[in-house]
Formats: sequence, C-alpha cells, structure tokens
Amino acid sequence: MAETGKNTDLAADLLLRGKLVAIPTETVYGLAANALNETAVLSIFEAKQRPFFDPLIIHVPDLEAAKKYAHFHDERVLKLAQTFWPGPLTLLLPKKEIIPSLVTSGLQQVAVRVPDHPLTLELLQKINIPLAAPSANPFGYVSPTEPAHVNKQLGDKIDYILDGGISAVGLESTIVGIEDTVVCVFRLGGLALETIEKVVGKVELRINNSSDPKAPGQLKNHYAPKKPLFVGNTKELLKEHSGKKVSLICFGEEATSKNITDVFNLSKTKNLNEAALNLFKYLRLADDSGSEIVLCELLPAQGLGLAINDRLRRAASK
Ligand code: TXA
Ligand code: MG
Repeated sequence: MAETGKNTDLAADLLLRGKLVAIPTETVYGLAANALNETAVLSIFEAKQRPFFDPLIIHVPDLEAAKKYAHFHDERVLKLAQTFWPGPLTLLLPKKEIIPSLVTSGLQQVAVRVPDHPLTLELLQKINIPLAAPSANPFGYVSPTEPAHVNKQLGDKIDYILDGGISAVGLESTIVGIEDTVVCVFRLGGLALETIEKVVGKVELRINNSSDPKAPGQLKNHYAPKKPLFVGNTKELLKEHSGKKVSLICFGEEATSKNITDVFNLSKTKNLNEAALNLFKYLRLADDSGSEIVLCELLPAQGLGLAINDRLRRAASK
C-alpha cells in the first residue's frame, strides 16, 4: 500500500526526485511523474504495464505554463483553453522541443491540460514542471475516481497518493485538436460536445473505434472490468441473460428479476452528470461483487451521456 495524504510538499519533493505520485483531478486520478525526466516517465509505463505507443497527457497549472511546452498557433484552441481551463479539456498541440518524445510516443503533438483540482493545482504551482499523468489504473482497466481505487491496484508501485477525495466529474477529459484546419474531438469525455460547440462552433468527431493500437485510449476493448459486461436495453439484456447471476447497472428505473444479485443506479433522477460521477465506481463494485456478469443500461445520447456510452461500449467489447 502506498502512503496516502494531503501533503503537497512531500508530493513535490518525490516528483522532483523522479518518483511516482498519484494525483487527484476532477476527472479521474492520474499516475504522475516529472514529464521532463525520461527515466521517471518510463516508470509510469512500467507501473501501468502500458505500451510505449500510447502517449501521455501533460498537466500544467495554467495557460502561461502550457505555452512553455506547446504552440497555440490556432486561435480556436487558444479560446478553448481560455474558456475551459482549469477543466476536463485536453488540447492536442504542436509540441516544443523540451518535451521528451517518450511522452508523446514520438508524435509531433503533445496533449496538455490544466486539471481543476485545488490540491493538484497547488502542487503544479509548487514544482514548476509539467507532470505526465495517465489515469492511475493498470492498462485497459477502469479508471480510478478515489484514492482507494489507486491503492488497490497500483499501491505497491507508487510512492505516494495525494488524497483529494472523490473526483468531481468522474470521466476522463475530452480530447480536442485541429486536423485539416477543422476542430476535432478525438476522445469524448467530461466536457460535453454541446458545451465546446458553443465556443468554437460545430466540431468533428474523429473517434477511433478500431482495434488499431495507434491510440490505445481509443482501443475498442478498454476501460474494461474483468467480468463479462453487456450493454444495451435493460429489459432485453435481462431476457438474454436470464440464466446468469447478474449485477445490474441502471439509470433511473430499477428492473427486478430473480437472477439480479445487486443493483447500482447511476442516477435515480436521470441526471447524466451524476451518472458520470458514479460510472467507474459502480463498474468496479459490480466487478468485485458475487455476480457472474454485469449488465448495464446505455444512456440517452446527449451531454455526458455520449461519453458514458462510449466508455461502456469499449468496456463491453471483447
Ligand atoms: O482526464 C484525463 O485526461 C486523465 C487525467 C489523469 O488527466 N488522464 C487520462 O490519461 O485519461 P490516459 O493516458 O488514460 O489517456 C490519455 C489518452 C491516450 O490514451 C491517447 O489516446 C491520448 O490521450 N493522447 C495523449 N497524448 C496524445 C498525443 N500526443 N496524440 C494523440 N493522442 C494522445
Ligand atoms: Mg486511461
């Protein structure tokens, strides 16, 4: 188990010495290392068992700091940064020389974000270096939204967990960049499409749904619990899987059936933000319960519902 606490001085000291520290963000917990120290960055890949072709997001305290590591040539991305940082938005930007290519998996663009969490912002201001941080889970598994999730799976591989409580959004950041002069969304996430479009107009979805390993965050089988997970319409799912002990993750109405061993309601009042907040926690609880399989209702395809369904479909894809 890793030491857990709210000591940003200790966290800063460890990070400056090349160690790994789990950090809270409003989206999910990150597994952080000094992005300018290649040996430290290497240990992130080792701890997560993550392939090197999957690039990392760097975390900075504000837009001024981001400009030290990436170019903001396009005024639309600048506007997005000004509007939504700190917040669940990652920008893909042309990288500056100082960022090691290990961080970007050799790509010319670096993913940058300013997380909206007071402890982590305090830490970032203290250390004055960018932190490379993927979600703090073993590669392919569900992302962590509280310190206990991190400790359970990676506790023996990291030096400290900065305890910032439960992540307020619960879904990873939305990834946006410019491709062919068009504003594109490469990963749906905690900042809704509709919200982004209010600032820069219509955006294009370029979400990779293949099993092509070029962008593993976008791999079809990702964010997955260990048990078989099936997603769709609850009634139909229950009919199809009537012979199995089932954990049911639902949204609003709660179905009943003899073979249901536990029910997790993402939001009794059908609030999509509340559902986002509960999603990963419930996937973990369902995975750890006595059921044989997990069934999950797909949500209305609007607001954060789009990103939630994206995660669920990937998690269910085997
Ligand atoms: O909310 C989040 O974004 C969380 C917190 C910790 O900040 N981080 C996170 O990181 O979700 P991770 O590594 O689990 O997912 C980041 C994904 C990668 O899998 C990759 O698809 C994409 O971001 N990415 C990162 N750098 C990229 C780059 N240079 N070009 C293209 N895609 C990139
Ligand atoms: Mg991840």
